[in-house]
Amino acid sequence: MLTAYDAAFSRLADEAGVDVILVGDSLGMVVQGRENTVGVTVDDMVYHTRLARRGRRHALLLADMPFLSCADSSTALRHAGRLMQEGGADMVKLEGGAEQVEVVRRLSVNGVPVCAHLGLRPQFVHKLGGYRVQGRDEQGAKILREDARALEEAGAEALLLECVPATLAAQITGFARIPVIGIGAGADCDGQVLVLHDVLGITPGRLPRFARNFMPGHDSIQATLRAYVKAVREGRFPSQEEAF
Ligand code: KIV
Repeated sequence: MLTAYDAAFSRLADEAGVDVILVGDSLGMVVQGRENTVGVTVDDMVYHTRLARRGRRHALLLADMPFLSCADSSTALRHAGRLMQEGGADMVKLEGGAEQVEVVRRLSVNGVPVCAHLGLRPQFVHKLGGYRVQGRDEQGAKILREDARALEEAGAEALLLECVPATLAAQITGFARIPVIGIGAGADCDGQVLVLHDVLGITPGRLPRFARNFMPGHDSIQATLRAYVKAVREGRFPSQEEAF
């Protein structure tokens, strides 16, 4: 999985063999230049999803439900409907644990495939006070395992784990019957996701520990994206140093 926010890059990601293109609300930071994802609106997500849809050929198109768009199940259904009908998304991703079970169930029974985003949830940055690894202690790990079970039970069709210890991510991947995609979650997840701008080395400042700039040694964006796909498929990304 790789993020893309417009037709040009979703086409390149698709041609590189990416299975899932994520129109992430990370666009708030990497495209809009915001400090975090809180300011991203449903209209922004619909617009970028529609653009990305035009570039994709084979990959599944996953779109983020932005901040407050899932506050209750009716609100979530209305916004997910827009992402699918106006944006052309195949699946939506929402941040949240067991407290989102009702939302996931309502979306699922109405034909909306859902990927549940657990672990570090960037939309909660003002509650968390920063971006930190989640589930490091036994109590936190237990909550994450229970959340994963509850969300799968409610109908989630995929899980995304962000910034959790590799051993915990491996446990969750072991019992989940749905695909588990990791970012900062070690090599034992079923798949990996990165933000496009990190892969291309154009994110300003220092890269997070779990990200890798694949550009060095490649002379085109196409070759760089192919190198990312190959490294993930061959289990060469992430390394132990890129995990927690
Ligand atoms: O918004 C996004 O790009 C994401 C990834 C970091 C997983 O949610």
